[in-house]
Amino acid sequence: MDAATHTRRAHSFNAAAGSYAAYRPSYPDALFDAVEDLAGRPLSGARVIDVGAGTGIASARLAARGAHVLGVEPGAGMAAQYRLDHPGLPVVRGDGNALPLRDACADFVTYAQSWHWTDPERALPEALRVLRPGGALAAWWNISDPEEEWVAAQGARLREWFGAGAQAHGAPGAQAAHTLQQTPEPAQDPRYGHPRSRVLAEKTDSASRTVRWSRRIPLDHHLANLASHSILLVHDESTRNNFLAAERAALLAVFPDATIEEKYIVELTLTRRPAR
Ligand SMILES: C[S@@+](CC[C@H](N)C(=O)[O-])C[C@H]1O[C@@H](n2cnc3c(N)ncnc32)[C@H](O)[C@@H]1O
Repeated sequence: MDAATHTRRAHSFNAAAGSYAAYRPSYPDALFDAVEDLAGRPLSGARVIDVGAGTGIASARLAARGAHVLGVEPGAGMAAQYRLDHPGLPVVRGDGNALPLRDACADFVTYAQSWHWTDPERALPEALRVLRPGGALAAWWNISDPEEEWVAAQGARLREWFGAGAQAHGAPGAQAAHTLQQTPEPAQDPRYGHPRSRVLAEKTDSASRTVRWSRRIPLDHHLANLASHSILLVHDESTRNNFLAAERAALLAVFPDATIEEKYIVELTLTRRPAR
């Protein structure tokens, strides 16, 4: 993905914040258990900076675990939706590449489905700067289970309509390929065009987990979720609508009762700031 496209896609969510909040999947309890396990401390009572917080889907789950959460979100539309949906949670406008926060103020910095929008060469030092010694940077993604036949077929249709980058960022058909630890060569990473994750690979004190979960939802809900992905949002309305109509027909052939089980594999990577 070239830099201009990356920027357009990174900002595309603001136009669809309401639908993002309503239809995107959340994250299972087991994910937060895994975060606590890898970090060696509970979320309860922890100071958590949730970066790329969007409409607050992850922030709300972290707060429900007893964390003191501050959302950081660059987009006006997403931040406004966050305030609407979670009036009790603070959120500030800011970018992961230059966090508007003081040094050593957080026990956790979290990136739910958002690390890939940063420049990790800048976002990693920023996260480590705001973490207190011993604090943890946790990043995770909901990846659609590529073993599901319909997911693989949908991935192929997305690529057919929107090109090779269409499978990026957890959209159906994505490969579990953007963990922080990966060290893809530029040519091997068709989503980003440069090795966005290599920086963290050099950190030895990092660990990964996967957590499986699923949800059963109406087909319309699934299509609205799909429509909130950046690859669709950057295309014009008629292309989007034509794709979604074709997708509805293809999925009805597989799910005649118009109910879909979306199966997810959450990929979590956690990196600690050394204690001293
Ligand atoms: C896929 S959404 C994830 C939202 C939320 N964390 C969630 O789990 O639903 C990605 C978010 O990253 C934000 N974003 C884009 N560029 C960013 C950057 N450089 N630093 C931090 N966040 C960024 C977008 O505005 C968007 O809200």
